[in-house]
Amino acid sequence: MDKCGGEPQIAPMSNERKRILIAITGASGAVYGRRLLEMLAETPEVESHLVISKAGRLTISAELDRDAAEIEALADVVHLAGNVGAPVSSGSFRLDAMIVAPCSVKTASNIAYGNTGDLITRAADVMLKERRTLVLAVRETPLHAGHLETLTKLATLGAVIFPPVPAFYQKPQAISDLVDQTCMRLLDQAGVHLDTAPRWGEAGGIAAIGGDKP
Ligand SMILES: Cc1cc2nc3c(=O)[nH]c(=O)nc-3n(C[C@H](O)[C@H](O)[C@H](O)COP(=O)(O)O)c2cc1C
Repeated sequence: MDKCGGEPQIAPMSNERKRILIAITGASGAVYGRRLLEMLAETPEVESHLVISKAGRLTISAELDRDAAEIEALADVVHLAGNVGAPVSSGSFRLDAMIVAPCSVKTASNIAYGNTGDLITRAADVMLKERRTLVLAVRETPLHAGHLETLTKLATLGAVIFPPVPAFYQKPQAISDLVDQTCMRLLDQAGVHLDTAPRWGEAGGIAAIGGDKP
């Protein structure tokens, strides 16, 4: 893991590898960010980058009983949330996808309205302007009309709105099954296809149901 405080030079990306930025903000669900990084750590064709907001550090400690440093150790490159000069703040730095998981309402709103005062919102804005994949695992419930307007605006701008809503068709036995399925599907959006949960209708997964008879 390279920690980008002094921002060391990062080797140019080959066309065979992907570069993905994971951002962890202060919504509930820090486990999603950690699991994504664990999955990417086992995927050599992806160079993982990580940025954690100040509130994200709070939820990591409250929900996972872990120091953020343990999660940072999973990433190939770590950037500081306050450093808007980091490589991922520029469109000329090749970044294939960015996943904000979990994504707070505050960060979603700042991205929607171009308030790019920290590295997470700036990097997300770059993804939108460069027409690259930006996936937002927005976590709040219930949602008021202002939240819904924000999410609609983000969807119009090209972001993938991906609330981490669990599915139950794979008959989860543990919370980790739910987290794995959500993280697998988040990475699908980023073009990284892993089989950490059973897939519907695929060999080795869950048999699809129904048929051509009523
Ligand atoms: C334990 C805890 C859980 C939180 N859960 C949520 C949540 O699910 N969704 C949300 O939008 N904000 C939640 N918040 C509030 C955010 O952390 C707060 O709005 C913060 O300013 C977000 O900053 P950030 O987007 O820069 O990380 C939570 C805060 C704490 C301490």
